[in-house]
Amino acid sequence: MAKMWTGRTDGVTDKIADDFNSSIKFDCRMYKQDIVGSIAHASMLGAKNIISTSEADALIEGLQGILDDLESGKLEIDMSCEDIHMFVEQVLTARIGDLGKKLHTARSRNDQVALDTRMYLRERANSIVAKIKELLNAVLLKAEENKSTIMPGYTHLQRAQPITFGHHLMAYAMMFLRDIDRFKDVIKRINVSPIGCCALAGTTYDTDRRFEANKLGFDTIALNSIDGVSDRDFCVEFASACSLLMMHLSRFSEEIILWSSWEFKFVELSDAYTTGSSIMPQKKNSDMAELVRGKTGRVYGNLTALLTMLKGLPLAYNKDMQEDKEAVFDSADTVDMCLDVFAPMVATMKVLPDNMLTAAQKGFINATDLADYLVKKGLPFRSAYKICGQIVGDCIKNGKVLETLTINEYKNYSQLFEEDLFNEISLATCVNKRISEGGTSPESVAKQIEFVKGELENE
Ligand code: ARG
Repeated sequence: MAKMWTGRTDGVTDKIADDFNSSIKFDCRMYKQDIVGSIAHASMLGAKNIISTSEADALIEGLQGILDDLESGKLEIDMSCEDIHMFVEQVLTARIGDLGKKLHTARSRNDQVALDTRMYLRERANSIVAKIKELLNAVLLKAEENKSTIMPGYTHLQRAQPITFGHHLMAYAMMFLRDIDRFKDVIKRINVSPIGCCALAGTTYDTDRRFEANKLGFDTIALNSIDGVSDRDFCVEFASACSLLMMHLSRFSEEIILWSSWEFKFVELSDAYTTGSSIMPQKKNSDMAELVRGKTGRVYGNLTALLTMLKGLPLAYNKDMQEDKEAVFDSADTVDMCLDVFAPMVATMKVLPDNMLTAAQKGFINATDLADYLVKKGLPFRSAYKICGQIVGDCIKNGKVLETLTINEYKNYSQLFEEDLFNEISLATCVNKRISEGGTSPESVAKQIEFVKGELENE
């Protein structure tokens, strides 16, 4: 079929070129945004007397009919069209006649596609925010239950200091809170209307861009028409917020995988979120967490693809930009799937406090507290550190731990040691005394939970 843009050329393109050029197989998902955007455009054309009110009404009715029929399944998208914009216009013209061709007055596909993509991503970003909140609620609940659950805290994946599992989980809560903030910030810059920028230079018609922007729920309009049709920063920012979120999910996944191993056994995932092995009967694999970790790569890839696609583009629109959509769609879909599985996986994860405690007891994890004990008795920290280092070294040689040395043995290292040291270095004391703001004590963790809850309520 001859193209809608037949004129300058005969519009007869090679089949291979058509397939290559076409974007309908992926931009078809923006049909709603496209039609709603066109309805706003038609009403603006009517309101400004660029077309008559009755013409505007007929366009709007026709467009609404297409939307209804698509939603009810009465109308199917014709995948042989170049893109969703052409499809809608084609159906409209077929249904209401030549009037349908007036819809494209004072606009271009360049501002139209930018508009559709912004409206689509605005919706996706808002739904991602809602999903992160669900995950946060699951994390908060687990943290609340485990405010006093002692586990080893690690640096370099070596046991470092005792912490509570609630404290550890709240670290992720803080990350997810920032993710919400980031998506909301991205939405601010998504929510700028490009419609009316037309091909690139604006238009000679007396349009009202703000009327359209208002109707479509935008905060403001792009103030430079060349920028309006060339800007894909919002896609990059969206892909970047997705990447950071995935990085957080991936680190969390990695820990869940480690904690689920026989070597750790800190948590056990529900059967509903694990798989078995086809050959090894003992296996319970953390496939969901592994997949989230794995899918992080493709989300980073989308970000890199977008940045690279844009870096050499002259202003204004270039067809290269059609590549923006698959990248952001894939990132949004991947993030959605990961969040959908992650929240219930965390909510149903069984915590094994005894194993966490046992692991915390074996690693001289309270050596810092032993040194602090001497410091409180007047010794400079460096000297205390040295003495405790010797004690740990000797214990390792003799197969002992700090808790099993006698007071007399301690006194061989320093006369400052007294009976009360055993209470001071008990794991519970180590944890309970870390009351500094943001620290690991149950009291401090409770404050962190309250803070995050408050932030969620203020949303
Ligand atoms: N399918 C195109 C895209 O996604 C729509 C814009 C086409 N504009 C143009 N001047 N060819 O970018």
